[in-house]
Amino acid sequence: METFSDEALKRTHHCGQLRSSDIDAEVRLAGWVRSYRDHGGVVFIDLRDREGITQVVFDPDVGGEEMHTLARAIRNEWVIAVKGKVRPRGEDRVNPKLDTGEIEVICDELNVLNRAQPVPFEPDEYHSTSEENRLKYRYIDLRRTEMTRALRLRHQICRVMRAALDEDGFVEVETPFLTKSTPEGARDFLVPSRMQDAAFYALPQSPQLFKQVLMVGGLDRYYQIVRCFRDEDLRADRQPEFTQLDIEMSFATEADVMDVTNRIMRSVCELSGKSFPDEVPVMSFAEAVRRFGSDRPDLRFGMELIDVSDIVKETDFGVFTGAIDAGGVVKCIVVPGGAEMTRKETDGLAEWARGFGAGGMAVTKVAEGGALETGIAKFMAPVAAGLIERTGARAGDLLCFGSDKTTIVNRVLGELRCKLARERGMIDPGAMEWLWVVDFPLVEWNEDENRWDSLHHPFTAPKVEDMDKLDSDPGSVRSRAYDIVCNGLEMGGGSIRIHNLDVQEQVFRLLGISHEEARAKFSFLLDALSYGAPPHGGIAFGLDRTAMMMIGAGSIRDVIAFPKTQRGVCPLTGAPSDVDHMQLTELNLRIMDEPHNQ
Ligand code: AMO
Repeated sequence: METFSDEALKRTHHCGQLRSSDIDAEVRLAGWVRSYRDHGGVVFIDLRDREGITQVVFDPDVGGEEMHTLARAIRNEWVIAVKGKVRPRGEDRVNPKLDTGEIEVICDELNVLNRAQPVPFEPDEYHSTSEENRLKYRYIDLRRTEMTRALRLRHQICRVMRAALDEDGFVEVETPFLTKSTPEGARDFLVPSRMQDAAFYALPQSPQLFKQVLMVGGLDRYYQIVRCFRDEDLRADRQPEFTQLDIEMSFATEADVMDVTNRIMRSVCELSGKSFPDEVPVMSFAEAVRRFGSDRPDLRFGMELIDVSDIVKETDFGVFTGAIDAGGVVKCIVVPGGAEMTRKETDGLAEWARGFGAGGMAVTKVAEGGALETGIAKFMAPVAAGLIERTGARAGDLLCFGSDKTTIVNRVLGELRCKLARERGMIDPGAMEWLWVVDFPLVEWNEDENRWDSLHHPFTAPKVEDMDKLDSDPGSVRSRAYDIVCNGLEMGGGSIRIHNLDVQEQVFRLLGISHEEARAKFSFLLDALSYGAPPHGGIAFGLDRTAMMMIGAGSIRDVIAFPKTQRGVCPLTGAPSDVDHMQLTELNLRIMDEPHNQ
């Protein structure tokens, strides 16, 4: 084991700090060896810590032979401490890429604090290894600047959020993790109880019900930066455990919650050097879906969906007329300059569209003079002028058509505009397009299960003016929900809640939740609503997604210290894993003989 004095640990600076103005200063640094170069007589080491890199030089003439021999033995990722003098690097050795690139430290005392085995990958070479490996050796991955920067920005985002909320009189309150199921639409993670036979806790999908109960308890303004647990299929922007900034306010309207959210997001953007508009545009759900095919439209580019049903129904093209006759629509998007796409590429779009349940994708190109050519040009010729006028398409553009049920057309064209914008480089990487989406339907029809589902959650209040349609025409009832969207990503969502017991029971009935089931699952909330619940509402936003957006990371995993893989596994710890037979016995559990991994 290496021995060293306490003095060796007394750093005077960090590795990103020294500049020309420090020349001749006596300094102590400590960190990891990022790289070493042995130039015969002199050894150069790049020393790394959380803040940066400093070049350290070992010269036998300055530090003596013994130190020099030790320096020559050093390898990457060893942990060392050095003492020495700051000196200029000399004209030809200045490294303009490094903040400390004008200086180096000539070492006169070297302490090896700990050795390292050859590492499975160098932090700077992280892209040459698999993500699985990066997560397994996360402590090595975390040593690279991007990772520490991401975690520190995340920390600062939390600080700014807390400061903004504190200023507005919000109180942070913790709510239980060992609790009952909360209906946010995903599967629950269950925890068996040892003390109660055959009983399970559910980890919270969100603190939704607790924050409502806090309002009934008179807390008035609550927030929490809180972990939520959802057993759902994972994607680039989803983790099974993730963090929300969760907020609830009493005596509040939609505008109050949106104001608080805008203030917080503005501070977060300021911190991260991103733009946030003075006024965030507000769009209804119906408009978002009609124009962009999505309830979280990406406004960084155009290619809006244009309804051309009335025009193309005059043609003999059976695919279109058939869809319209069956009660569907024909919509199109104009891809600027898309005429340059090859046949193979446009055929590929049809194949891709089938993955979204569409029959295919019809395309045609706009030639000089507004004529259509290739694809379905022949069928569209009689209405070419009308199409050009409606869509504003110009020579060199590509028209992509979707024809089917409205929901399918919106979904496929909504996805297509995003795909093409990404692939064709139509997105300004610095753009931040924020949007509030409001007036969501309260419920949507679940065809598979033949019932109404909440679009948000069952505690979302219907709009007062739509209340009379709750029984007669539930599909047309709008809710008091709102989502905040940035660049096509849902950053947060919330609503004004139902605070009246009768309305809550009416909504449960609509959702097919019987009185008994509601009592079994949410009796505490129903009781609370009956004992003086104030009008209240709130929102939660994804902290991981916010950090991801502020950093410009491609995956949520890049802003989480210890994330899970796509298969819900933690490669560092190996969780989830087998448990001891004794533990199962204590819990009165038995694993079925036939394991099934679903
Ligand atoms: P919701 O379910 O919309 O609302 O979640 C709020 C925000 O949390 C983020 N989010 C996720 N982030 C990462 N991984 C996930 N698996 C994941 N799921 C959700 C999103 C989302 O916008 N209780 C309500 C809020 C309320 O009504 O106040 C709720 O949880 O950014």
